[in-house]
Amino acid sequence: MKNTIVVGSQWGDEGKAKVIDVLAEHADVVIRFQGGANAGHTVVVGDQEFVFHLIPSAIMRPTKTCVIGNGVVLDPAQLLHEIEELEGRGFDVRGRLWLAENMQIVMPWHVQLDKLKEKAAGKNAIGTTGRGIGPAYVDKVARSGIRLIDLLDPEGLRFKVESILEEKNILFTKVYEAEALQAAPIVAQYLEYGRKLAPLVANAALLLEKAIKTGKHLLFEGAQGTILDVDHGTYPYVTSSNTIAGSACCGSGVGPTAIQSVIGVVKAYTTRVGNGPFPTELDSELGESLRKWGGEYGATTGRARRCGWFDAMVVRKAVRVNGITGLAITKVDVLDQLPEIQVCVGYKSEGKVLEDLPMQMREFENVEPVYETLPGWMSDTSKAVSWADLPENAKKYLERLAELVGAPIAMVSVGPRRDQAIFLP
Ligand code: IMP
Repeated sequence: MKNTIVVGSQWGDEGKAKVIDVLAEHADVVIRFQGGANAGHTVVVGDQEFVFHLIPSAIMRPTKTCVIGNGVVLDPAQLLHEIEELEGRGFDVRGRLWLAENMQIVMPWHVQLDKLKEKAAGKNAIGTTGRGIGPAYVDKVARSGIRLIDLLDPEGLRFKVESILEEKNILFTKVYEAEALQAAPIVAQYLEYGRKLAPLVANAALLLEKAIKTGKHLLFEGAQGTILDVDHGTYPYVTSSNTIAGSACCGSGVGPTAIQSVIGVVKAYTTRVGNGPFPTELDSELGESLRKWGGEYGATTGRARRCGWFDAMVVRKAVRVNGITGLAITKVDVLDQLPEIQVCVGYKSEGKVLEDLPMQMREFENVEPVYETLPGWMSDTSKAVSWADLPENAKKYLERLAELVGAPIAMVSVGPRRDQAIFLP
């Protein structure tokens, strides 16, 4: 297997966890490189369902090594909860899960600030997951963050928390009229997290270099999706990290020349959670049906996902900014019952055909999607085990999507189980 990056190519929730779980069989090390506990990955193994927010789902394969890289913002309580849950169900993580020592920590003030800002924004809220992600990345870039290595240094941590809170508490009490946070209990709690996590802390970039030099295969697990990227997405309705493939290098300490392929995961239709433009949204009974058939409810917040037709403008952009070498098209079975399927092939704005997604959100909110209608296949695809098993119209639909976005199909997924995956040569 080549060293591969897997990214979401729409607004997240494309089914990356399933694709990564299947590809992980041929990888040695699986690495998370951005985001935090805002991600929610559901994996089905046999009749057991697992939901991960931070740990790469490949941890369930006992021979695999998993790394959470420096680009992630880590909520230690959530991570410890996932470790306990896994160990309680018989999966040993010790010696297989490594955490980059230079990773940023999500602190209680980040979560508090995320919620206060969203509340204050009213109808202009982003619709965040409330996990403190944005404020944690703000502090990283402002150079006032706390890193994992700091949790192993009692003196240093006390000093940092006290000085950070002097400033944050002015914001909480004077601007938001909220309660101030106390340093002492936070320091005690986070030192305790540090003690528990200490055996997993590593120089992850060095570890990955050694893995590459000994011929091990790396699989990078992206979170969220391309159009939630802080630079390339529907700003400000985005997450606070770079979600695109280039971020795998910054967020892990592996150079770009070590990577050979990029898999873009796309849903056979489109969903989005949170606010912001969504040109192909189906605010109708059909949208409700897609939600029901696809089980489109957020794994992190339980929110109902907004559903709509496949948008080739979105995925074409994803192919471009990620350098996608192969598409993994998921949830094809969700469309099984439809007599006709629409695909957005372009946007018009004030009569003009657009070449790309507008960066001005007011313009984006008003674009007119141009649709092409394709016939459905009206039959069950969930038992297909090869491309040949798929109904003719399903093949035509998938081939048309690939043609519109300019990337070949590498994999098709027709259900949540590991064996419901079709690989193309
Ligand atoms: P935040 O990442 O919690 O700051 O949320 C910012 C935006 O990204 C909101 O619209 C969220 O709904 C969205 N978002 C964050 N994580 C995910 C995800 O894993 N899947 C889909 N949307 C997400």
